[in-house]
Amino acid sequence: MLPQEFIRKKRDGESQTLEELREFFSSYLNGEIPDYQVSAWLMAVCFRGMSEEETLYLTQVMAESGEILDLSSIAPNAVDKHSTGGVGDKTSIVLAPLMAHLGLKIAKMSGRGLGHSGGTIDKLESIPGFKTSLNKEEIFEGLEKVGCVMVSQSQDLAPLDGKLYALRDVTATVESIPLIASSIMSKKLAGGAKSIVLDVKVGKGAFMKTLDKALALSYLMVGIGKKADRNMIAILSQMDEPLGYKTGNNLEIMEVIDTLKGKGPADLIEVVAVTGAYMLLMGGKASSIEEGKELISKTLESGLAVERFSQMVAYQGGNPNVVDDYKLIPYAQYKEIIVSPETGLVKEIDAYKVGVANIITGAGRKKKGDEIDHKAGVVVRKKIGDKISKNEPIFDLYSSDDQKIEEAAKYLEDGFEISQEPVARSKHILGIVS
Ligand code: URA
Repeated sequence: MLPQEFIRKKRDGESQTLEELREFFSSYLNGEIPDYQVSAWLMAVCFRGMSEEETLYLTQVMAESGEILDLSSIAPNAVDKHSTGGVGDKTSIVLAPLMAHLGLKIAKMSGRGLGHSGGTIDKLESIPGFKTSLNKEEIFEGLEKVGCVMVSQSQDLAPLDGKLYALRDVTATVESIPLIASSIMSKKLAGGAKSIVLDVKVGKGAFMKTLDKALALSYLMVGIGKKADRNMIAILSQMDEPLGYKTGNNLEIMEVIDTLKGKGPADLIEVVAVTGAYMLLMGGKASSIEEGKELISKTLESGLAVERFSQMVAYQGGNPNVVDDYKLIPYAQYKEIIVSPETGLVKEIDAYKVGVANIITGAGRKKKGDEIDHKAGVVVRKKIGDKISKNEPIFDLYSSDDQKIEEAAKYLEDGFEISQEPVARSKHILGIVS
């Protein structure tokens, strides 16, 4: 079928078959179809959607575009997790070494920044030398030696998701339930784990702004996983304000290390504890959610899992000394502070705006293939419900470019709200879909 016919079908709301999707995307992978035609199709999907059946087909085409790992001999009870994306969401980077320390094998395939949300792979690459593209043999060896690896899509693993993901990032085609579901589930199916825990973010800084949409996405992904014979669970978690305090690549790695050393922020610890407890339960390392949470809390307090993190960093070619020396992942040279104009309680910190401000500082991409500024980002100094005084800082912005930092600071000036009335603190975990 001509590419323009394939695009027209979706534009006009017609459904597409497995064969049509296969043909279009194999031509894209071998360079016969350019990015602009694929972008047009992605935008048509954003408006027209896809049926459950088409989403399943797309997931299959994406997963099968590379190898499907078979972990049965090395880790028959392997558990994987994935977040639908948020601002300051560094949960996976805490969980991989933590779960490995508690006896699970974790081969985690992640992505780069997507839209206004940061990406696990970009964050990890802020560690000097850290290599995120591993082949199958290297992944297996890492699981044997360290117990966890964190890798990106590659020529070998979900290459079609890698290409579509990079396009969606810069064409405003992220916020589509079928595109998110197929992107996530293709990586999870290719990753080979028997059990999968999904963290579905809801709120201003998430791709799903309402609970209804988050539930629809959860049911779709859980259904795709179950059809592929995976044990599935989805946790819905709040993303109105950023998770933790640090957003941006280097900055988030610092907060990951702090958390593994038992000094993490309460909201991040709660999401880590609930997600991790389900992973331990599904992987047979805890007999209840309560026991799982207890194990996690004790391990974080002991600071022992940071050793596993530095082993993973060393295995993947990075400098393991980052865990003791943050000067190896320094703050950027330019800093701007935004202060509160009045005394009161913090009523709102807009995670979406913080995410966009990150892109403006240079921490995210404006077009495909842009180099990012790993040192750039935004530190949020307060949580919703905290007291703040007039002229007290609420945001610290960092960038290696003086113009970008000014632009980001201007953009973020109204990214928060102060109230004189009582403010309820956010609930972090909103529900579970199994
Ligand atoms: N994470 C992914 O891997 N893909 C998406 O589309 C959104 C979040």
